[in-house]
Amino acid sequence: PKTYEIVLLPGDGVGPEVTRAARDVLAVIGDFYGHSFNFTEHLIGGAAIDETGEPLPEATRAACVAADAVLLGAVGGPKWDGGKRRPEEGLLAIRKAMGLFANLRPLQVSPVLAHRSPLKREIVEGVDLIVFRELTGGVYFGEKTRTADRATDLCEYTVPEIERVTRAAFQTARQRRGKVTSVDKANVMETSRLWREVVTRIHAEEFPEIALEHALVDSMAMHLIRKPREYDVILTENMFGDILSDEISVLGGSIGLLPSASLGTEGPGLFEPIHGSAPDIAGQDLANPVGTILSAALLLRHSLKLEDEADSIEAAVAAVLAAGAVTADLGGALGTRGATEAVIDAIRAIHWATAHRVQ
Ligand code: NAD
Ligand code: IPM
Ligand code: MN
Repeated sequence: PKTYEIVLLPGDGVGPEVTRAARDVLAVIGDFYGHSFNFTEHLIGGAAIDETGEPLPEATRAACVAADAVLLGAVGGPKWDGGKRRPEEGLLAIRKAMGLFANLRPLQVSPVLAHRSPLKREIVEGVDLIVFRELTGGVYFGEKTRTADRATDLCEYTVPEIERVTRAAFQTARQRRGKVTSVDKANVMETSRLWREVVTRIHAEEFPEIALEHALVDSMAMHLIRKPREYDVILTENMFGDILSDEISVLGGSIGLLPSASLGTEGPGLFEPIHGSAPDIAGQDLANPVGTILSAALLLRHSLKLEDEADSIEAAVAAVLAAGAVTADLGGALGTRGATEAVIDAIRAIHWATAHRVQ
């Protein structure tokens, strides 16, 4: 049987703790379904700066592009503030090197979880949306300049860059409820006017059956809190997607729950929780591992094409959350390890029930 090569990039802060949790879950899935996963750890971010002086060492880049999939924890932390190289550079560089232009950030709020959100139940119950965040363009990658009293960040988008992420979002909308909300700042930014023009054309030419609406990012930030159930696929540029996805995480109760998949046209994907290195809780067994565990499910589905295996992780996580076996960010008493064990136990239970199903 095939051995799947999975590169692990634990990174900084809570990164190693949550990556270990997802790895343990994947190992159990491998045992149950008879797959061989070969895990190889590499340096990225602050940990890599400390060891090699570089946030993305060449050995890490080479291993990632040669892998079947990459699972990342998080990078960054106060330790590296003001340094010559930043940990975050490593993350941006690996996304670019792997050609990962589409970052998918799904969120579902099931009825049993709605009370975990600080927002009212009737607002968040039943939310089911996915953000398509453009990941290798925009202000993140434009030219930067700095003198003592002046700084600039160039925001740049080309037509092909907008087209490819737009097609990915519309294709996903076809499999879902058939609605795309494209978010921009077309009343101010030239890149947004181009964005809107391209999205409108691709819609008309290739996906006329999908319902398309355009929204300005400021009012969208408000609507996402007021009526989040109205949204299905949200398509947006790099920085707006970064900001809105952290906002959306409040609907589900914690940023620690949200996974992401970063995909290109071909080649391995990179999978990571949407949260950062959480330096305030690092090394204390406090981090919620669920966002990274659900990222491992996305890895199985998107990069390894192991749909049943991905489903069983998601079902296990849903069962554990419904049972209230959660970490402190969700008001629970479990640590990172305890929550991970709960997910593993739930996978065992699901697997046993499936194997012993009454025909
Ligand atoms: P953060 O996401 O690290 O933390 C924000 C808040 O959420 C903190 O209070 C933190 O404790 C909490 N939190 C985050 N993840 C959690 C989890 N799994 N379980 C429970 N609570 C969790 O954002 P920040 O504090 O603004 O950034 C800290 C560092 O992380 C910065 O250096 C930033 O650049 C970096 N960062 C990295 C990534 C990434 O690697 N993809 C993403 C975002 C931020
Ligand atoms: C994220 C993070 C990164 C981003 C940072 C750490 C570079 O916030 O993955 O959401 O802005 O893309
Ligand atoms: Mn972010």
